Amino acid sequence: MQIAAAEVGPRGIVVGIDLAETEPFENENVIAIQGDLEDPEVCERILESLGGDPADVVLCDAAPKLTGVRERDRAAEERILEAVAAALPRLLRAGGDLLVKILDGPEAQEVDRRIRKSFEKAKTVKSAATRKGSSERYLLARGYRPSVD
Ligand SMILES: C[S@@+](CC[C@H](N)C(=O)[O-])C[C@H]1O[C@@H](n2cnc3c(N)ncnc32)[C@H](O)[C@@H]1O
Repeated sequence: MQIAAAEVGPRGIVVGIDLAETEPFENENVIAIQGDLEDPEVCERILESLGGDPADVVLCDAAPKLTGVRERDRAAEERILEAVAAALPRLLRAGGDLLVKILDGPEAQEVDRRIRKSFEKAKTVKSAATRKGSSERYLLARGYRPSVD
C-alpha cells in the first residue's frame, strides 16, 4: 500500500484490505480496511472508499495462512483467487490492470486460466523476493474486458 500510494500520488486513492489490522496511514488518500476479501460486503466497502468508481488497478498479494495440509492450503488459495475473480466486475474498470499473487496448484491454475480470458493480455511474472522453492508467482493481466466474464 505504501508503494502504491507513492505511485498514485496525492490525487489518486489507494484502498487496501487485510484480515489483519494495518497501522494507520498519514495520507488521507490511503484507506486501510480490516476485513475478509472473501466477504462480498467487503467488496462494496472498497467501492465506497473509492468514491463509487471502479479502480484503475487491482493488486492482490493475499495468501492463506499455510497449514502444511496440501489439500486444505490449495483450497484456501483457490477461495482467495475465486474472490478476486468475483470482485473484478465491480472493482476494476474496463481497460484496467490486475496483478495477483498465485500459490500454484491445479485449482489455482484453473482460476488463473479463467481470469486471463477477461483481459487483453496476461503473463506470469516471478518476483526476485520470492523464496527459492516457493510455488509463488504473479499473474499480470492488462486491459480488463468485463463483458468476457
Ligand atoms: C504475504 S502477506 C502480505 C501482507 C501485506 N500486503 C504486505 O506486503 O506486508 C499476505 C496477507 O494476506 C492476508 N490475507 C489472507 N487471506 C485474506 C483474506 N481472505 N482477506 C484479506 N486478507 C487476507 C493475510 O492476513 C496477510 O497479511
